Amino acid sequence: GAEDAQYVASLIRTTPDFPKPGIHFRDFTPIMTDARALRLMLVALERTLPVPADQIDLVAGLEARGFLMGPALAAHLGKGFVPVRKAGKLPPETLKQSYALEYGTASIEIETEAVRDGQRVLIVDDLIATGGTAAAAAKLVELAGGKVAGFSFVMELQGLDGRAQLGDYPVTALTEMP
Ligand code: PRP
Ligand code: HPA
Repeated sequence: GAEDAQYVASLIRTTPDFPKPGIHFRDFTPIMTDARALRLMLVALERTLPVPADQIDLVAGLEARGFLMGPALAAHLGKGFVPVRKAGKLPPETLKQSYALEYGTASIEIETEAVRDGQRVLIVDDLIATGGTAAAAAKLVELAGGKVAGFSFVMELQGLDGRAQLGDYPVTALTEMP
């Protein structure tokens, strides 16, 4: 319930000016370390899925922090997991998508064969800030022949309007933070 959600959110650790001046770094790894909180987080993500679990075929997680919770959620839901990696890490064949960072651009990749045609993919990550990473991941899932079922995040940063990058896809986040 609400107390459990409060307990999970209370473990998020904030570090000012990390890794760069002006970034308020939100770290959810203390949730992963705490056995009770880890279980509660997975149950909460399951309860708040953007679509019913039977409308999801695969879970895709975004490097690196989406690799911490993504496979745990996939196993909890009884689904497989697909890693979306930073460019240059996966052997061919891959599909690549660039996205904007605060300064400059970055690219992520997915294995071309990782998603079968028409599979419905839930995209998960620890945090949505500007939404650029998640939007690029959605493009990759579609290029690979999948359908984006929706997005689940642990944290949503307020004031950046990251959801606007995700069009009409359903999005849920466990907690909103300034
Ligand atoms: C963080 C976070 C998301 C992304 C969100 O990852 O885990 O993947 O930024 O930002 P956005 O909504 O503005 O795109 P980061 O790129 O720092 O990589 P890391 O997980 O490898 O640290
Ligand atoms: N805090 C603020 N902005 C961010 C973060 C974070 O932890 N990760 C990516 N953008």
